[in-house]
Amino acid sequence: MAKLSVRDLDVAGKRVLMRVDYNVPMEEKNGVMVINDTTRIKETLPTLQLLTSKGARLILAAHLGRPDGKREPSMSLRPVAEKLAEMLGKPVAFVDETVGPKAEAAANALTDGQILVVENVRFHAEEEKNDPVFAAQLSRLADVYVNDAFGAAHRAHASTSGVARIIRAWGGQAAAGLLMERELKFLGDELDNPARPFVVILGGAKVSDKIKVIDRLLEKADTILIGGAMAYTFKLAHGGKTGKSLIEKDHTGTALAAEAKAAQRGVKFLLPTDTVVADLKDTGKLNKKGKPVFEPINPRVVSGDIPDETEGFDIGPATAATYAEVIASAKTILWNGPMGMFEDKRFAEGTNAVAQALVAATQNSGAKSIIGGGDSVKAVNKAGLGDKVTFASTGGGASLEFLEGIPLPGVTALNDV
Ligand code: 3PG
Repeated sequence: MAKLSVRDLDVAGKRVLMRVDYNVPMEEKNGVMVINDTTRIKETLPTLQLLTSKGARLILAAHLGRPDGKREPSMSLRPVAEKLAEMLGKPVAFVDETVGPKAEAAANALTDGQILVVENVRFHAEEEKNDPVFAAQLSRLADVYVNDAFGAAHRAHASTSGVARIIRAWGGQAAAGLLMERELKFLGDELDNPARPFVVILGGAKVSDKIKVIDRLLEKADTILIGGAMAYTFKLAHGGKTGKSLIEKDHTGTALAAEAKAAQRGVKFLLPTDTVVADLKDTGKLNKKGKPVFEPINPRVVSGDIPDETEGFDIGPATAATYAEVIASAKTILWNGPMGMFEDKRFAEGTNAVAQALVAATQNSGAKSIIGGGDSVKAVNKAGLGDKVTFASTGGGASLEFLEGIPLPGVTALNDV
């Protein structure tokens, strides 16, 4: 069902409460919280600019981290508001309350085109409970509601769902922002009717995390390429040896069922034929759970079985070459999940080869390349290719749930058109 668009709102002189996903990676440097990646902020700028140019008085609500309903100074949105001001090149006000008289006064003091960021919605336990009283308090900041927080749209919280429903109940409007629209277009409409061949690349650690996505995409894709540690569960299911690799013994049946469904539907389903493995050296250290920490050493490529004493960390070069060839002939490409432990450059080659093949298909044959969020977006950015794909989602869990076909509460709460 199509949703009301921010483009169709009359917002001049109105207070627009806009939910954004400014849950950005931060770290403390010399006692100051610093933002490591501003992508999620940058991607909301077109909606912000559209609304302020139309004379909206903009109130931005967001969460940062998981403060468990308590005020946690390291998770304040103040540095995010400062970064936003810097990126927009104009002042952005900040109020250290989320709701209540002080927040309402700050919202009411805005003039046309001004922007206010309110404090982290998750400093209130009521947010995650979708508490109606808290949602009503939020609604007092607004005449109109816009949701541009695709990354948080899988959460049925007060600021993503409850407040939209309250505003609509009193006849107000709740619309999708421009980023939200783009996410729904590329992860939704474009994949419902893809230009063919439609190639899906799925990686990541666990079959159990991705099986619903695999199952749904088997109904649409022409070819599915499997990488990441979840490939080892497929290998095990075929009676192969997986050494010390991460496997899910309980999910070999799930893996075989996915392959059977692919065969039945005529979908090509490719698994790695070679693997980058490494020996494991005991560091003598313990992790937070008290388990010994092993360091991968002596990386090398093996075909077929994974030797007993080794662990698999990446797809091998023969697999990467086969996958690159398949990707080269695609007209639509969806990628979710890295091919290996790309954070370590010794195990990043498979992921980088896929990223490069995807960019080449986009540039050479006009394929639409869509990166389905989370680690695969990080990997593409790390390879310096983030701006060379057709679309990279800002969602993590939200992208996965949306690709699984689950309705997102933050979207369903908006006005239909
Ligand atoms: C994300 O980072 O994926 C979103 O902001 C959602 O955050 P959450 O998993 O803490 O709800």
